[in-house]
Amino acid sequence: MPTILITGGAGYLGSHLVKQSIQWDTHASYLHTAPPVSNRVTYHRCDLSDKDQVLHLLTRLRPSAIIHTACSSQTQKSLTSILPAARNLAEITASMGTHFIHVSTDMVFDGENSPYQEESPPSPVSPYGKAKAQAETEVSGLNPRAVIVRPSLIYGIDPPDHQTQWLLEGMEKGEPVRLFTDEIRCPIWVETLSLALLELVEIDYSGVLHIAGPQPLNRWDFGLAILGMLQRTPTPTVRPSTLAESGLTRPRDLTFDLGKAQILLKTPLLSVTEVHQRLNPPG
Ligand SMILES: NC(=O)c1ccc[n+]([C@@H]2O[C@H](COP(=O)([O-])OP(=O)(O)OC[C@H]3O[C@@H](n4cnc5c(N)ncnc54)[C@H](OP(=O)(O)O)[C@@H]3O)[C@@H](O)[C@H]2O)c1
Repeated sequence: MPTILITGGAGYLGSHLVKQSIQWDTHASYLHTAPPVSNRVTYHRCDLSDKDQVLHLLTRLRPSAIIHTACSSQTQKSLTSILPAARNLAEITASMGTHFIHVSTDMVFDGENSPYQEESPPSPVSPYGKAKAQAETEVSGLNPRAVIVRPSLIYGIDPPDHQTQWLLEGMEKGEPVRLFTDEIRCPIWVETLSLALLELVEIDYSGVLHIAGPQPLNRWDFGLAILGMLQRTPTPTVRPSTLAESGLTRPRDLTFDLGKAQILLKTPLLSVTEVHQRLNPPG
């Protein structure tokens, strides 16, 4: 069985990937979150922003492929690790000839010129988007054979993703939850994204690829859809609002052109409506 390393193996996307990687000798890295006990998966503690630790781990494992999901916007440590971790992994995978899949984000765009294609020039507006855009530049410069995947909002109900968790906690505490009607994303089910990433490991492809759901939705409609999947009714504190009213600077419309992924991948990119039907079959 070929060896795969999944970074961020205790994170949201990483833990789903770990579960689906049954055809691999799976290794996963983590930093602070204690990983689950597993007979199938070997977990390694590694600070990916530390080059010596990364070199030590990769020299020991010599994986055939790495899917790098670690380093998101969830914590300050995660945010400040985006660039050094990407740089370390890109440099070492290039020298070892390891297939490297780097997970980026749709937040590398400003949301003013949708639909975005793989070739559209990045135009980040947030510190997270800027760090991810810079990481993409480093990755493609250091390892031109790398794949850079840009997902949109990642969601799921088992367990609920980070944003849905925030929505559910707000409902439980009776706190105001504002969902913007003028902020559009192309949400991707975590199960679909995991399958697509594992499929990409087997495909000869380099460069940027947009992997998202084919159904652009505003945050309000998406919030209602995910509550529907969970068979929950929004409480009165959950209200529609607008980015414009909030005064926040966030990308307005991150609709993606998915033509390339739809041709390249066998994994169907399911819409939110299709995922709902799968999770709640009629009758
Ligand atoms: N969530 C979304 O909607 C979304 C949308 C688009 C793109 N993305 C991208 O998709 C990827 C996965 O997102 P996610 O939501 O699954 O992330 P997540 O749940 O926040 O997991 C990220 C993991 O990164 C690990 N990490 C942070 N700093 C590290 C370091 N210095 N060394 C080693 N590990 C480190 C953390 O490990 P510990 O917990 O062990 O500290 C954490 O579990 C990220 O790259 C994110 O930018 C996410």
